[in-house]
Amino acid sequence: MDINCTEKELFLLKKIAHAAADLEMPCFVIGGFVRDKLLDRPTKDADIVCVGDGIDLAHRVAERFQPKPQVAFYKNFGTAALRIDDFEIEFVGARKESYRYHSRNPEVAPGTLEEDQLRRDFTINAMAISLNQPDYGSLIDPFGGQKDLADRIIRTPLEPGQTFSDDPLRMLRAIRFASQLEFQIDPHTWEGICLHVDRIKIISQERITEELNKILLSRKPSVGLDLLYQSGILHIIFPQMVDLAGAEYIDGMGHKDNFYHTLQVIDNISANTDDLWLRWAALLHDIGKPPTKKFEQGHGWTFHGHEVVGGRMVPRIFTRLKLPQNEKMRYVRKLVELHLRPISLTKENITDSAIRRLLFDAGDDIEDLMMLCSADITSKNKFKVKRYLENFNMVRQRLAEVEEKDRMRNWQPPITGELIMEVFSLPPGKLVGEIKNAIREAILDGDIENSYEAAYGLMVKKAAEHNLHPIQ
Ligand code: CTP
Repeated sequence: MDINCTEKELFLLKKIAHAAADLEMPCFVIGGFVRDKLLDRPTKDADIVCVGDGIDLAHRVAERFQPKPQVAFYKNFGTAALRIDDFEIEFVGARKESYRYHSRNPEVAPGTLEEDQLRRDFTINAMAISLNQPDYGSLIDPFGGQKDLADRIIRTPLEPGQTFSDDPLRMLRAIRFASQLEFQIDPHTWEGICLHVDRIKIISQERITEELNKILLSRKPSVGLDLLYQSGILHIIFPQMVDLAGAEYIDGMGHKDNFYHTLQVIDNISANTDDLWLRWAALLHDIGKPPTKKFEQGHGWTFHGHEVVGGRMVPRIFTRLKLPQNEKMRYVRKLVELHLRPISLTKENITDSAIRRLLFDAGDDIEDLMMLCSADITSKNKFKVKRYLENFNMVRQRLAEVEEKDRMRNWQPPITGELIMEVFSLPPGKLVGEIKNAIREAILDGDIENSYEAAYGLMVKKAAEHNLHPIQ
């Protein structure tokens, strides 16, 4: 084998080879599996291309396993897939016309291996390993994929315009691979992307977002995000991000470029977390800045309330990008809304009650919020950074102290709405909420003790202001 496979992968490939030999069908492992093996990256699936019917081959392969795995196949696309344990194998017949990955137009003209390789997206994804005798295990690399891997280059095997019009998602894939593998895009391929950006509009949002998430999960997401911006693709798929770009000057006073600041924040946070949603929070933390930007005479640029406006934008952005509308979205929104809180606490106002409020509002996400805030410190002014960090460390210390003392993280006020209704025989309504909030606020402010008795006492007092008394 020209690539290093595990015992298990070798076993699977042999089975496929035997099934293909039975059918007298030339077959090859191709694409991401070969690329990742040569790069020594982990693999969890493999694409098999055969000169013949991929669905027939998949069924033949399945018969060689006990128990026989199920074959999922798509007649229109001529593709089939099966899973052995946690390893997914996809089968497709070699095709000569455009290699459209699950395209809307499923017509496929059968072709040779080389014709198929030519229609793939990048030279590094077009390499194949033979599963046939007499050259079993040897690399078939007609377009210099191995050299491009060594030179760390993303290049299309055909004229870029052709490759990208076959499937415009590939423009995004080029950028994703550049970010994920830390490769350069070949200048001619890059020109092709810049020329065809508009074609990205025909691609489904789900496929676009999948690539965007992969960019965000790369080691330095700024690489991919900046390429998206430079190419003009970001203007189409995520215009709110583009609105962050640029620095305006009035009377010699400017503000930082919030797009590049955001990129720096994502890179900072990515050094500490692989969590996609925390990375999304970093991406969106300042998204409310463009709509709140103002120039105030004698004062300079302000972005008052950008965290609230930004928080409100999160559900809309998630809907448009077809990201989940669940607790992940609420988590991102919460972090965007709270991202200024820890750093806005200064020596004078790091009171117990301010800390308690922060712990109460952030709950279990307090550590993530602190991580976001420290990633947000990107100033080039050393003194500023030093001051922020000192302040920040003080907040951290106080958070630990107050949490130790008051256990506010998952705290719930000791008096529930149900209890208020029961004690005063009240129907659900505004007044119940008012009493409940007054108790919560008083505890958070430290006006009363965090105990059932103190809370009960305040409840009775507040209710009395409305001429209500506990019923016996
Ligand atoms: N392919 C392509 N054009 C696309 C998508 C895929 O030519 N738009 C080809 C490439 O040869 C690719 C193979 O199909 O290597 C498998 O595609 P896929 O599984 O989507 O990607 P991988 O390259 O395996 O990489 P990853 O798993 O990281 O997405």
